[in-house]
Amino acid sequence: RAGSFNLCFSVTWGLADKTFVRTEKEGKEQNKGKEQFHQNMISSTVLFYGTYVLCLCLGLLCVVFVSYWNIEWRGGFAWDASFLQFNWHPVLMVTGLVVLYGNAAILYRIPFTWSQRKQHWKLVHAALLLSSLILSILGLCAVFDFHTGYHIPNLYSLHSWVGICTVVLFTAQWLLGLVGFLSPCSPLGFRKLLKPVHAWMGMAIFILSLASCLSGINEKLLLALNGNSNSTAAYSSHPAEALFANFLGVLIVAFGLVVLGILSNQRWNRLEPGEESSRKPSLKPQTASNAGGSTST
Ligand code: HEM
Repeated sequence: RAGSFNLCFSVTWGLADKTFVRTEKEGKEQNKGKEQFHQNMISSTVLFYGTYVLCLCLGLLCVVFVSYWNIEWRGGFAWDASFLQFNWHPVLMVTGLVVLYGNAAILYRIPFTWSQRKQHWKLVHAALLLSSLILSILGLCAVFDFHTGYHIPNLYSLHSWVGICTVVLFTAQWLLGLVGFLSPCSPLGFRKLLKPVHAWMGMAIFILSLASCLSGINEKLLLALNGNSNSTAAYSSHPAEALFANFLGVLIVAFGLVVLGILSNQRWNRLEPGEESSRKPSLKPQTASNAGGSTST
């Protein structure tokens, strides 16, 4: 009896001991997983803010460069249907449809906004886009007035076709967004359906506005730097204005790439209710079978 008791005791003790060792190991692995998750979150946030600062700097440089170009080489600004009124066109289009629009598009990606009510940020997003729309419409008025004043035909170039389509699509997108996401009577099913279309259209409009700006800069340089008058050199002779405006184009491309990079990075997506679990660390301990597949990014 004493022998069998001893055997039973040592077997039970041995099992308890093994279980204790295993739970201790699992606990350590869980902590390690959590730590790694937090480190990933911190490095992802730091990387975001670094990219965001770069985006703000490039946006500011685009506005400064397009304004300086028109002040230094194109004679400045006026609103009198003259060449000087035309000069508002590039400034307002770059500021509105590229810089403001790009910043409005990445607003939900800023981690600082995630802990706050989405409704507030929806209003900020809509207000930024409305300012962008107003600036673009003013920019179009500037060029249409100038064309009318000088009896230049409207909408003859590829630039003007792409440009007008961009502004029409943007207006439609803004109105649909207002009805779909900000109107209290918009049904949830409709919002869910609209969201991916809205995000895709938003990117498409941004790409179209980048294309409009690049073709516009190119067209302006070809028209203005024809080398026929004494005051302007030919575009092909590398005058300072052409180099400066080409560099503006490069800045616009760089800004566009940074915005599109932010938009396409899934780790910088705002978490919607119910999606939290997909980025939290797995509470299951890592085993050889699941270690390779699970990443807490
Ligand atoms: C998203 C940005 C832009 C959009 C949507 C846009 C749109 C337009 C539209 C619709 C017209 C035709 C106006 C008319 O026919 O009366 C036009 C004309 C013009 N734009 Fe832009 N534009 C943009 C940016 C720029 C930029 C950055 C420049 C650089 C200087 C520029 C240069 C011109 C020039 C030279 C014309 C007159 C010749 C033409 O009709 O093609 N545009 N633009």
